[in-house]
Parts: sequence; structure tokens; C-alpha cells
Amino acid sequence: MSVLETRDLTKKFGSLTAVDGMNFEIDRGEIVGIIGPNGAGKTTFVNLLTGVLEATEGDVIFDGETLGDAPVYARANKGLVRSFQIPQVCNDLTLLENVRSAVLSRERRNNSMFSVLHWEDESRDEAIQLLERFGLEDRQNVEAETIPHGDKKILDVCMSVAMRPKLLVLDEPTSGVATDNKH
Ligand SMILES: Nc1ncnc2c1ncn2[C@@H]1O[C@H](COP(=O)(O)OP(=O)(O)OP(=O)(O)O)[C@@H](O)[C@H]1O
Ligand SMILES: [Mg+2]
Repeated sequence: MSVLETRDLTKKFGSLTAVDGMNFEIDRGEIVGIIGPNGAGKTTFVNLLTGVLEATEGDVIFDGETLGDAPVYARANKGLVRSFQIPQVCNDLTLLENVRSAVLSRERRNNSMFSVLHWEDESRDEAIQLLERFGLEDRQNVEAETIPHGDKKILDVCMSVAMRPKLLVLDEPTSGVATDNKH
């Protein structure tokens, strides 16, 4: 069964049709890339999937459910998570605090498998493991504003993975990221 399907998804900005009748399907476990030149409509398509923009026509069906006008947070709670072309991290929080906030928001959504007593430690341990996975653990205690743009993008993806999404949509995840970091 497909995890995501779009039916005739269309977005018009006045006379400009940025996304024109997209019929698209992604199966569970599938990795799909969308390519196109600047202005082709990739970000607009991502914004339609994730509820940042309202479609002019058409539907998004996620995990068997038509999303209609569900807002961004409701889609994220259902497991449809995105990262941004311009990273969305809290600059005045440390890397660890940023990732922990994503872990904790996921646990709140799931009514928490952690007891309150263990919440502090478990969210911290999980956030450190995630930072290790993305090669950022050596800077876990520095504020996000001090790290290079490419690393902020990696942090943004790390936070998206912390949400344990059913589908993770990445908008230009590697632009501005050093080549030796692209693994
Ligand atoms: N909010 C908006 N209002 C009006 N036009 C818009 C808006 N957002 C995007 N567009 C236009 O829609 C078209 C598609 O833009 P979009 O940003 O989706 O392209 P893209 O494929 O992501 O490009 P890039 O590779 O540069 O990121 C462009 O012509 C753009 O100018
Ligand atoms: Mg774009």
C-alpha cells in the first residue's frame, strides 16, 4: 500500500501554475527523488504535501487518509514530516537541546512511553545517539547559531528523524552541505 498519494494536485499563484495536476505515489520503504530546475515547483509541491500551502485543486492522501486542509502540525503528528531548504532550528538552543525538543514533542504526541522520572535521561540519551548518527555529537553543547549553515541543515534532518516519521520529505537536504559530510 502506498504511504503517500497525490491526486491531480495543483497550485496556482495568480496566472502562474507552479504545480500542475501532479499524480504521484510513494510506497512504504521507497526512496524517491524529485528533480527539476530552479522554479520548477519542487518546494511548492513539498509545501502542498505538508500543509504549508493550500492546494488550488486536488488531494493529498497520506497513510490511507485524505488530508484536506489539515494544518502542518496535524500532518506532522500523523507522521508526515519535512525538513526545510532553509534550516528551521532554534539558534539560541544547543544542538542537544534542539534534538531533545524533537524527541520530547514526539513523546508528547504518543502520550509518552517514558515515565516522567525517566523522561529527562531517556530523551537526553536518545538525542545524543541521534547526534552521533549524524556526526554532530562533538558539538552537542554549542548553540546552533555558531555552527555552519551546512551543519544546521544536517541538524534539521536529525531533528526530523527524531520525530520517527512515516514519511520524511527533504527539501534540498544537501545544498550547502560539505561533500565529505554527505553520507
Ligand atoms: N508564494 C508564492 N507566490 C507566488 N509565486 C510563487 C510563490 N512560491 C513560489 N512561486 C513561484 O512558483 C514557481 C515554483 O517555485 P518553487 O519555489 O516551488 O520552485 P523550486 O523547484 O523549489 O525551485 P528551487 O530549485 O529554486 O528551489 C516559481 O516560478 C516561483 O517563482
Ligand atoms: Mg525549492
